[in-house]
Amino acid sequence: MKRIILITGGAGFIGSHVIRRFVRRYPEYTIVNADKLTYAGNLGNLSDIDREPNYHFRRVDIVDKQAVSALFGEFRFDGVIHLAAESHVDRSITSPDEFIYTNIIGTVNLLTAFRDTATERDVRKLFYHISTDEVYGSLEHGGFFTEQTPYDPRSPYSASKASSDHMARAFGNTYGLPFVISNCSNNYGPNQFPEKLIPLTINNIKTGKPIPVYGKGENIRDWLYVEDHASAIDVIFHAGKPGDTYNVGGDNEWKNIDLVRLLCKVMDEKLGRVTGSSEKLITYVTDRAGHDLRYAIDSSKLQKELGWRPSVTFEQGLRMTVDWYLSNEQWLETIISGAYSKYYQEMYGNR
Ligand code: NAD
Ligand code: TYD
Repeated sequence: MKRIILITGGAGFIGSHVIRRFVRRYPEYTIVNADKLTYAGNLGNLSDIDREPNYHFRRVDIVDKQAVSALFGEFRFDGVIHLAAESHVDRSITSPDEFIYTNIIGTVNLLTAFRDTATERDVRKLFYHISTDEVYGSLEHGGFFTEQTPYDPRSPYSASKASSDHMARAFGNTYGLPFVISNCSNNYGPNQFPEKLIPLTINNIKTGKPIPVYGKGENIRDWLYVEDHASAIDVIFHAGKPGDTYNVGGDNEWKNIDLVRLLCKVMDEKLGRVTGSSEKLITYVTDRAGHDLRYAIDSSKLQKELGWRPSVTFEQGLRMTVDWYLSNEQWLETIISGAYSKYYQEMYGNR
């Protein structure tokens, strides 16, 4: 079946894996990647598929209503998979404004343009909004986030994402726009920007820099391999029930300090260093303001209703990720030069 699908934020970490999957698996689809190319967007992430005939890129800032409107005038989309966002909690703490513009206003611009162009006759039209488990707030030691957990966002990032989720539901309820939302746990894997915990740790071990662990390292995250998130997005886009929400997670909780120690062990092995040498780089630093203690996702609805399962274990995924970063030095060099080094300096000083 022919379709024209807009994927926003396709030059970023998760978006690039989603674009690759859709371009390769669905040659009958036209895939349009709309991305502003912020510091987090890198077209090099897509260099292996960017010449495919069913792939098109448009540089668009979703905050720019006219540019969004022009894009929806150029293509008659019957599906939108919306990933474009400001995504880093620490940046949202130092400068929340951009999160409000892109994550809230940008989402409303896309919802409006889709509402105004998708025709009544088009039974396949669907706005798929990609969100995070962080909208549910923070758990103590026990319990899981389900689709019924009340929203309780606690950082400017999660508040902006919660707001965009509400907007998608409001457009569904008020204007009858078919939508689906998924809320996923922390992703890891190739092409993740090295401001996030796992690639930052890998890079610092490689270069012998201190590994900054916030607070006591006791915070817990539920980690999912990025390609398993992309496969969940594929399943939900094609088989999810319009109006529904699906939680996506790896059933894979790690305390930050245990995760960092595991990475140290894997890196020592891969780099042929003496066991225990990377652990010496662990440095406890001032905690993140308002740091959520624990995220843990119950993804049983997605597993039972749509048959999705993660395909790799954490051990496998982490090793694939380390191998990727070690064999893609040029990618990392390009990313960490320029603006990122200024951010790193401001965030972590000269450590
Ligand atoms: P990312 O920061 O790696 O990529 C974001 C992409 O969006 C970049 O390519 C950037 O250029 C683009 N973008 C930013 N502002 C834009 C704008 N105004 N107009 C157009 N494009 C813009 O993010 P990610 O980690 O790949 O996350 C993608 C989505 O998944 C986000 O919506 C995020 O909230 C959600 N999510 C992420 C995680 C995670 O662990 N990374 C977990 C759950 C959900
Ligand atoms: P991060 O990768 O920023 O994802 P999120 O904040 O969306 O969960 O951080 C994951 C966890 O690691 C979080 O508890 C904060 C912690 N962390 C550190 O301890 N040190 C770091 O340098 C970073 C970036 C994160």
